[in-house]
Amino acid sequence: MVNKNGISLVILATKVVKNKLGFLSKLFGTQEPQQEEEKTMTKLNIGIILGSTREGRVSPQVGAWVKELADKRGDANYTIIDIAEYKLPLLGEAGGDASGAAAWSEIIAKQDGFVFIVQEYNHSITGALKNALDYLREEWNNKAAGIVSYGSVGGARATEHLRGILSELLVAHVRVHPALSLFTDFENGTDFKPAAVQADSVNQMLDQVIPWTTALNTIRK
Ligand SMILES: Cc1cc2nc3c(=O)[nH]c(=O)nc-3n(C[C@H](O)[C@H](O)[C@H](O)COP(=O)(O)O)c2cc1C
Repeated sequence: MVNKNGISLVILATKVVKNKLGFLSKLFGTQEPQQEEEKTMTKLNIGIILGSTREGRVSPQVGAWVKELADKRGDANYTIIDIAEYKLPLLGEAGGDASGAAAWSEIIAKQDGFVFIVQEYNHSITGALKNALDYLREEWNNKAAGIVSYGSVGGARATEHLRGILSELLVAHVRVHPALSLFTDFENGTDFKPAAVQADSVNQMLDQVIPWTTALNTIRK
């Protein structure tokens, strides 16, 4: 039996020994500090995926805004990934030029997590995004994602469709979901002028994406 004071003494002694060992291992260059350094140097890669590909689309404006907010956090390498830059005909289309498929696989495999920029088309996601998701499987698996959507009701219906698809692809999608209105966050439905509160929402979404991405990394590596 050790009384309360006895336990405090044991805790104190353990802390002193730990500090001393930390100091010695730094002094003599053992593995510990090097591993710490490696951990802090390896930043997460988060791909910001533009879901629309049509001419005149607004998704590049929304993606650039999300990237600017995300870069300020300094907690990951954020990269815009534009489906339109990859040649992806309909999956399995006879005679289709699928020359972009390998590059698509490579860029998605490199990411640890994602932010999907989602626009509502007929109460769902775009055909282009669904097709790009269908192209790959393992490259998506066991990663985390956030969704930023827009539409007449914030792209809410498209987002719910995307959540079902992501679940099937083993992508863990976080709860916080910035939903932009075509009426109040855009001028004339085309010039992106987000309300101030939307930036907070993006940060709250990333506050969930980063720890989930970090956690899921441990089961992939
Ligand atoms: C084919 C098509 C279907 C659409 N259906 C919807 C819809 O069901 N709900 C909605 O809120 N907006 C709908 N819209 C409006 C789009 O959300 C809006 O045009 C948005 O800017 C499209 O994103 P993009 O500019 O990045 O392509 C639709 C637009 C298109 C082109």
